[in-house]
Amino acid sequence: TFTLILWALIGYGLGSIPFGLLLTQLLGLGNLREIGSGNIGATNVLRTGNKTAAALTLLLDGGKGVVAVLLARSLAGEDAAQLAALTAMIGHCYPVWLRFNGGKGVATFLGLMWALAWPVGLGCSIAWAVGALVSRMSSMGGLLAAAMSTFLLVLTGHGPMLILGILLTMLVFWRHRGNIARIRQGTEPKIGSKA
Ligand code: G3P
Repeated sequence: TFTLILWALIGYGLGSIPFGLLLTQLLGLGNLREIGSGNIGATNVLRTGNKTAAALTLLLDGGKGVVAVLLARSLAGEDAAQLAALTAMIGHCYPVWLRFNGGKGVATFLGLMWALAWPVGLGCSIAWAVGALVSRMSSMGGLLAAAMSTFLLVLTGHGPMLILGILLTMLVFWRHRGNIARIRQGTEPKIGSKA
């Protein structure tokens, strides 16, 4: 039990590092909270106009998910890895450093999936790309990727991860409730636009 609590905390700590916020501050790109959606993710970093910073945010926010899972798995086994995955996602969405007001979890979700079950990570990433390219909305890509994960976990024989996958998916949807409302109203901004 102590080991699991430890990995839950390590997962949360890793997940709660707000790379988008740190990078935009470091590069002097302005206050992310006052740009676009105010979100700390790669999509909103792109609205600063700096593609490199956005790509780095995507990689680092995804990478912290990968690190949380692989570290926990190699040092403490599969249960610790799955718990660290969940708490990393919670850390990203609700970081104590930002008064629990964090990101929407798509990059971290994808990183977690790659590390938990890479074929699922691959499938979700393709779903993200297709969803985002077809709709021109980043949020649509993220929602499609999360929704696909359940099917992909079952299809690839990762049944034991299903509960975790569903919890992560629910978190992505919950964090996108504003985006979902805008998609339904037809007011969700397209990728590359400033709104
Ligand atoms: O991952 C976040 C993305 O799906 C939506 O971001 O800034 O457009 O709300 P944003």
